[in-house]
Amino acid sequence: MPSWRQSLVKSLHKTRSIPESRYFQIATANREGVPFCRTVVHRGLTDDNQLLVISDTRTEKYQQLNENNRCHVSWYFAKTREQYRFNCTASMVTKIEQPDLVEAQWEKLSDAGKKQFLWGRPGTPRLDESALNVEGDYSIVPAHFCVLSLNIENVDYLNLRGNPQHREWHEKDENDNWVSQSVIP
Ligand SMILES: Cc1cc2nc3c(=O)[nH]c(=O)nc-3n(C[C@H](O)[C@H](O)[C@H](O)COP(=O)(O)O)c2cc1C
Repeated sequence: MPSWRQSLVKSLHKTRSIPESRYFQIATANREGVPFCRTVVHRGLTDDNQLLVISDTRTEKYQQLNENNRCHVSWYFAKTREQYRFNCTASMVTKIEQPDLVEAQWEKLSDAGKKQFLWGRPGTPRLDESALNVEGDYSIVPAHFCVLSLNIENVDYLNLRGNPQHREWHEKDENDNWVSQSVIP
């Protein structure tokens, strides 16, 4: 297991009682290269080092990742004072491409979480107060519900604890083995 992954597993464990520790920011770029950044919820880390996020194919982030699948994640654990920054490539799937993964993520959501996916197209005008009072069948996974798998290409880790601070760069070598280098913070 790469050492950054061991650290991340520890960070998640130490902060498991703090819901905010599962939020990270993901930045994408549109076709003109204009950056966009937003908060999402960590939904899992696969054995092959992919961060899982759930989203909606009708959002800007999905459209941007469809055109340019490179993205950047920044994740700060306030309790342990650690920052992880990941350069990633994203792949996106709906229930058509990967029903098992997508249905499993849908099932984990509360009814309130599922309901958000029954609303209209994100970002379009909310014309009246009843727009979000929708009925729906929560047993059916909406066609636009998607899972983003963020394949981690390299890692910039910073730990603010201690004096001096500790920063490490992690990347894969030509044999696909993770190598680490301590760098000046
Ligand atoms: C704490 C928090 C968690 C969020 N989690 C998610 C999430 O897991 N997936 C998601 O698509 N949007 C999530 N959002 C909403 C996004 O930040 C964003 O507002 C929305 O997805 C539209 O972004 P876009 O237009 O850039 O695609 C979350 C927002 C907050 C504040």
